[in-house]
Amino acid sequence: MDLTSFIRQLPKAELHVHIEGTLEPEMMFELALRNDIDLPFDSVDEIRRAYDFTNLQSFLDIYYQGAAVLVTEQDFYDLMLAYLERAHADGVVRAEIFFDPQTHTARGIDFSVFMDGFSRAIDDAAARWGISAGLIMCFLRHLPPEDAVATWYQAEPFIDQLLGVGLDSSEVGNPPEWFAEAFRLAREAGLHAVAHAAEEGPPVYITNAVDALKAERIDHGVRSEGDAGVIAMLVRTQIPLTMCPLSNVKLRVFDEIGDHNLKQLLDLGVMVTINSDDPAYFGGYVVANYLAAAEGLDLSREDLIHLARNSIEAAFMSDANKAVLFDELDAVAAE
Ligand code: ADE
Ligand code: ZN
Repeated sequence: MDLTSFIRQLPKAELHVHIEGTLEPEMMFELALRNDIDLPFDSVDEIRRAYDFTNLQSFLDIYYQGAAVLVTEQDFYDLMLAYLERAHADGVVRAEIFFDPQTHTARGIDFSVFMDGFSRAIDDAAARWGISAGLIMCFLRHLPPEDAVATWYQAEPFIDQLLGVGLDSSEVGNPPEWFAEAFRLAREAGLHAVAHAAEEGPPVYITNAVDALKAERIDHGVRSEGDAGVIAMLVRTQIPLTMCPLSNVKLRVFDEIGDHNLKQLLDLGVMVTINSDDPAYFGGYVVANYLAAAEGLDLSREDLIHLARNSIEAAFMSDANKAVLFDELDAVAAE
């Protein structure tokens, strides 16, 4: 079996994908037309050419601009359903999906508009394709911590539709501990906690995300490498890293995929997983990320099975549901 087919058929969980980052240029155009919104681009090709990033901020500027075409409940439904269809085609059986409410509420869009659209699509995708999904609400760290707390209170009526909270956007200079209060409220309400850390920022942001936010997973964590204490903590606790290899190359964290440290960290015993982050902007969904890592880092098929296994282990699912997926993975791996 060729490598792509091998990767595709492994049952996998995707744990780090921003729904606004799955907005393909074709849909961006379609929604701009539908909602009578001016785009600063004349064609899909011109949009794709603009995706030449120098760092995280250069991407975020374009990503927030793109999200402005999302207005109605149907827009959020269409976006979510399109992602879940692609994820299902990639062998994703479980998706834990980020969204950025402040990007939408700042434009006057009510929480109920995007929550209803997302939830309706998740229900339809489960019925059509059997894929299971949950929503993780991210606080934007470039905005004041008080905004995060206010956003938490806006989200409270929708708590049954949420799996957890996360922290994203511009990392350097916006440390995790500033957001302790919003995370405390969410945890007290029974939600899971995750946080982006050490994507561009220092390894101490990982320690602080774990200590101050009680983060159960770290998104990215690539810059843990130089800090032996942080790595020892990750190995001891088995706190997962949700890594996104194509994202890190597109945003110039690494010059090329062959420089990525995921294989080193996997071999050291860190609970590494592979994910797509913002696939419409970074050149591929989850299979493309596994494939790039496999080819660039010379991963064996055992490594790929190990990574798929880690993704299920790191998911926020019951042990009984995980056991079913482990059995499916074992059956596929034995073929
Ligand atoms: N929001 C969307 N993608 C992100 C990333 N890679 N890092 C931080 N915030 C983000
Ligand atoms: Zn991310």
